[in-house]
Amino acid sequence: MTDHHPRTPAYIPGFGNHVSTEAVPGALPIGRNSPQRPAFGLYTEQLSGTAFTAPRHENRRSWLYRMRPTAEHPAYQRYDGAKLLAPGTDDTPLAPNRLRWDPLAMPATPTDLIDGMVTMMANRDPAELEGVALHVYAANRDMDARVFMDADGELLFIPQAGRLELLTELGRIEVAPGQIALIPRGVRFKAMLPDGTASGYVAENHGVLFRLPDLGPIGANGLANPRDFETPVAWYEDKDEETQVVQKFLGSLWTTTLDHSPLDVVAWHGNLAPWRYDLSRFNTINTVSFDHPDPSIFTLLTSPSDVPGRANADFVIFPPRWMVAEDTFRPPWFHRNVMSEAMGLITGAYDAKAEGFRPGGISLHNLMAGHGPDVASWQGASNAELKPHKIDGTMAFMLESCWPYRPTLYALEHSQLDYDAVWADFPKAALPR
Ligand SMILES: [Fe+2]
Repeated sequence: MTDHHPRTPAYIPGFGNHVSTEAVPGALPIGRNSPQRPAFGLYTEQLSGTAFTAPRHENRRSWLYRMRPTAEHPAYQRYDGAKLLAPGTDDTPLAPNRLRWDPLAMPATPTDLIDGMVTMMANRDPAELEGVALHVYAANRDMDARVFMDADGELLFIPQAGRLELLTELGRIEVAPGQIALIPRGVRFKAMLPDGTASGYVAENHGVLFRLPDLGPIGANGLANPRDFETPVAWYEDKDEETQVVQKFLGSLWTTTLDHSPLDVVAWHGNLAPWRYDLSRFNTINTVSFDHPDPSIFTLLTSPSDVPGRANADFVIFPPRWMVAEDTFRPPWFHRNVMSEAMGLITGAYDAKAEGFRPGGISLHNLMAGHGPDVASWQGASNAELKPHKIDGTMAFMLESCWPYRPTLYALEHSQLDYDAVWADFPKAALPR
């Protein structure tokens, strides 16, 4: 690719593949990572997503060939712009209550993605290299002459309304509602808003990198298939203008200013890179006999913990699907879970909640919180004629974690009042006398 500004980004298919890509022919060294004199005076830099000594099948890193080294930067100072992004949580006892939130309002003044992000909940300290956070964003301004970088984890973007164009060090990604995109830990990027406004969710994973789940008896195919992930080709911008870098580091925000754009990687190779994925490509598995399977069948990505089968974070989606189960209460059952469940809704309605859970909203059911269908959904599903039925026009997701979530002070102050009422007034079972 010779033109580093083609109109539409180009992508390479596959998940976690070893990719080689150059925006200028001859920029990528052949046969070695760190030649004595890289082409054109480029600087060589390794970006590690796993420890050097991680097993080969888990090892993720890329080699970047850039116009200036990342090391060349002034000291960071505290950044005060994004007041609600990663402000930390306090230590007051957290009530074991179920919580739900309405969508974040669009800011009244021009606000870019960084300043328009609000942390809703988090678990674990990022320094422990475990846990996840869930943020929401509402932005109405392109990121102009500044970039964001998260040292605390990889960022999974889940747009709800409006497209994002993510200009990253490793290439450009366009992502629309119904798609997701991942930016690896430490990769700098800026977000442009092709539709003028954009809102959605960001899952921040402090732990082991998201991977595709094992499929067990499902077999070699199904759920999210590797070929449907798309990694951008190399792209760079050659801008000698002041650029602000905002970095999230150990839960706080810091900033420094460069005299150039750091989106200056002309070529790279490796298997640590941003990607996007179209949720409509998810091959959904469900029962064709009876009972509602455990929601783990909907797992798109998983970040393992040290305990086998217990995820630091599972990213799970609830896509359109056929419901054919016989003699079955088809929506999610009532349950109490040792895992903690944060849910979001991209579009449509969720089959366990008749109302109150709006696209852009969030619900939280922490460990052992009793939850399940609301009264209206329970009544409807209990009396429904069980013919084949397609749940359509919906897309919900769950960020399920083995670590209980702690909502931020902002989230606690902005939750819906009396969410518990959706489970009030269930009729008592009538035992035989
Ligand atoms: Fe649940």
